[in-house]
Amino acid sequence: MGILEVKDVNKRFGGLKALSEVNLSVRENSVHAIIGPNGAGKSTLLNCLVGKLIPDTGSVLFDGQSVLGRKPFEINQMGISRVFQTPEIFGDLTVMENMMIPLFARRDGSFRLHAIRSVRAERALVERAEQMLTDVKMIDKRSMHAASMSRGDKRRLEMAMCLVQEPRLLLLDEPTAGMARADTNNTIDLLKEIKESRNITMAIIEHDMHVVFSLADRITVLAQGTPLVEDTPANIKGHPKVREAYLGEHA
Ligand SMILES: Nc1ncnc2c1ncn2[C@@H]1O[C@H](COP(=O)(O)OP(=O)(O)O)[C@@H](O)[C@H]1O
Ligand SMILES: [Mg+2]
Repeated sequence: MGILEVKDVNKRFGGLKALSEVNLSVRENSVHAIIGPNGAGKSTLLNCLVGKLIPDTGSVLFDGQSVLGRKPFEINQMGISRVFQTPEIFGDLTVMENMMIPLFARRDGSFRLHAIRSVRAERALVERAEQMLTDVKMIDKRSMHAASMSRGDKRRLEMAMCLVQEPRLLLLDEPTAGMARADTNNTIDLLKEIKESRNITMAIIEHDMHVVFSLADRITVLAQGTPLVEDTPANIKGHPKVREAYLGEHA
């Protein structure tokens, strides 16, 4: 059994079937990519995993426990973190202040700015944040304002803010969307390092096939709300059903 088990999930928006009988099993410590054309239901599926949407039917189990009906911060506390399409960092705060946000967040996910800025008393938390910044090679940028950094560095910071919470499952929704090639390569390197150095499972939605084939252990191809095929990257390449989903070809 996988660390994440999606069973017979259906989700409609009015007359539109966004997800139809979705089954997915993500193995612990693997990188599982979900690919598919625009409108395939990828974001809808991810939103069902983090408490932003509740499926009409079906179940989503994380480590044997249902995530359905739980609030996003409760799911976060279960050990699931999510990186959004646009980095969710605070541009007016420094790198280090951003790092303190997840460490100082209250149970409901809110935080007080003055608490983050007067962290002298919380030496252990500062050290934890510093270690994380060292791990992702950002420690020399600790005093920079987040707004002044490149898109790749903003993504790197956001990843560090997720990882400092020590999640067991990291969900990534198009982490390289809108990035220049150099920033994309930077993000691939970072994800590879994370994969190799931590006990972490990743589920990644991604359009860039270079990113997917560089990282994924398993790939699920979603089309019109239904998984078409799930296999290794080597077997997915050139698969007739994948060509069909992307190019409208009939194999
Ligand atoms: N909140 C919503 N209300 C109505 N339709 C939606 C909503 N969210 C997504 N959809 C529709 O559901 C389908 C799947 O969307 P989405 O999950 O965003 O696809 P993807 O992320 O693969 O591009 C699309 O047809 C989209 O227009
Ligand atoms: Mg999407």
